[in-house]
Amino acid sequence: MSEYILGISAYYHDSAAAIIRDSEILAAAHEERFTRIKHDMSFPTNAIKYVLKEAGIKFEDLTIVSFYDKPLIKFERLLETYHAFAPKGLASFVTAMPVWIKEKLFMRRMLNNKFSELLTNPNNKSKIPLHFPEHHLSHAASAFYPSPFEEAAILTIDGVGEWATSTIGYGTGSQIKILKELHFPHSVGLLYSAFTYYTGFRVNSGEYKLMGLAPYGTPNSEQTQRFKELIYKELIDIREDGSILLNMKYFNFATGLKMCNDKKWEALFGIPPRESETDITQEYMNMALAIQQVTEDIVLRLAKTAKELTKKDYLVMAGGVALNSVANGKLLKSGLFKDIWIQPAAGDAGGAVGAALASWYIGTDKQRNFKKDTDSMMGAYLGPEFGDKQIQSVLSKFDARYSYYDDFNELTKEIASMIDKGKVIGWFQGRMEYGPRALGNRSIIGDARNPEMQKKMNLKIKYREGFRPFAPSVLEEDIGEYFELDRPSPYMLLVVPVKESRRIPRPKNYNSLKLLDRLYQLGSDVPAITHVDYSGRLQSVNKNTNPKYWQVINEFKKLTGYGIIVNTSFNVRGEPIVCTPEDGYRCFMRTEMDYLVLGNYLLKKNDQPSWQEKENWEEKFKLD
Ligand SMILES: [Fe+2]
Repeated sequence: MSEYILGISAYYHDSAAAIIRDSEILAAAHEERFTRIKHDMSFPTNAIKYVLKEAGIKFEDLTIVSFYDKPLIKFERLLETYHAFAPKGLASFVTAMPVWIKEKLFMRRMLNNKFSELLTNPNNKSKIPLHFPEHHLSHAASAFYPSPFEEAAILTIDGVGEWATSTIGYGTGSQIKILKELHFPHSVGLLYSAFTYYTGFRVNSGEYKLMGLAPYGTPNSEQTQRFKELIYKELIDIREDGSILLNMKYFNFATGLKMCNDKKWEALFGIPPRESETDITQEYMNMALAIQQVTEDIVLRLAKTAKELTKKDYLVMAGGVALNSVANGKLLKSGLFKDIWIQPAAGDAGGAVGAALASWYIGTDKQRNFKKDTDSMMGAYLGPEFGDKQIQSVLSKFDARYSYYDDFNELTKEIASMIDKGKVIGWFQGRMEYGPRALGNRSIIGDARNPEMQKKMNLKIKYREGFRPFAPSVLEEDIGEYFELDRPSPYMLLVVPVKESRRIPRPKNYNSLKLLDRLYQLGSDVPAITHVDYSGRLQSVNKNTNPKYWQVINEFKKLTGYGIIVNTSFNVRGEPIVCTPEDGYRCFMRTEMDYLVLGNYLLKKNDQPSWQEKENWEEKFKLD
């Protein structure tokens, strides 16, 4: 009989649930998509209900429930940290401790209470065994087990789990061994987050913006070089093996409610912390570049150590820092490993899948179920899907006007022609993505060749800062036409150079132009996805993994010769990616998107009844 394991990630950020049947990943989803609260950290009741439904079982049918970290050890870390830094951390101690003592310390009881609510008869007590694999073991398991490698070195890097902030290990067959750990408070993730905060973005969600800002820094300027030197000299002590020691004089996260000591940073770098949503001046771009380059240096050294210790040909990665697609691109290019695979839900949400897989394999003699040619994440399309009936009922509710296409081929031809005409389309198909990226099932798409597209999408659709670059979806077989890359990049986790032959030279005074003036200088014949440094964060689309998305790009190629389009997540700034057709319609109506495709339904914005908004969504969805 099949066994079902539920994996849960919760109570830090990005709560999620995942379910596996024996070793097979059946479903996984972030709680934020259901509650519409970005990075929702609450117990993932909705995500659990969904994955159980997808698996076709009741809660009591589960064999094991696996939680993604060890709460008691985390508590010990908090206590010891407060003790070590006492009495400095008193304010944060008083804030955090009552919550920990009341709720988190009694995690087992709290979880069991939550489970009772999920039982068919809530008066019963859950008797299902509860596992607590370590946080970084959950990340490691999420990276290794679904990967297409029989053996691999494993590198996990994040803010912090229990004590570990980074681990090096390896997987072979069905077992994982952790060889080295870097411990709190010395953390690459927290170092990056401190700069995220200082440059005016939100910690634990704005890190990708800092990465996006880095290419605007002037590489050889005196200031960028000085910032780098200061980081190496004052903030961190980096060893040859990639381990780092943070100079805690400059950081407040261990004891305070803030990431860093503003006064000391200002004295050190000579610039104050940037206020969120204010103009971004060159010095913050230089700072972003400096910390990005330091991070790449650390990641590369850690990967070298992983290679030396394990002698494996392949590398797998997870943890929030593994979402740094620029560092990943450089790591791949270094040739240190024959190939690397990164868990698409590399952040804490992915811990749900990892915890479930760790419970299935570790400490058992089960054979690993693995395929050489493909990973077992199903393209990350592991979330809910909605049929015609559900879409129809939403359309009726809003009295929406639409056309229904019996023939999907006709619909894709129509969409390809709209893209060619510069229209922006909400594209909603099949199962929702797991992980932070929209990969063509909950995406907003447009023409990568169009010089106005980046501006239009940023300002009229996403309502966010204009500097943010867009990512392309490219037919897998056409990667080499556009990028200097010789392999697929299915999860948008690699930033690589745009092919030299497609680039348009920059003017001589380029680096002295203002941010927005630089942004709108065309960098190639696919300007909407070409970053200022001639790179792109590409997703390659495989015909078998996502046939519908592949088809629409292919139709566009037949029409224009270009097998590439812009793909950005289906949401407005600060909003979780849409989950249901209703979320999709609402987002479509709130923005200046031109068309919406829900399954085989096509909706034109101009045909819709006027939209009466009760909710102040711009207030609700804050910039991160
Ligand atoms: Fe983590």
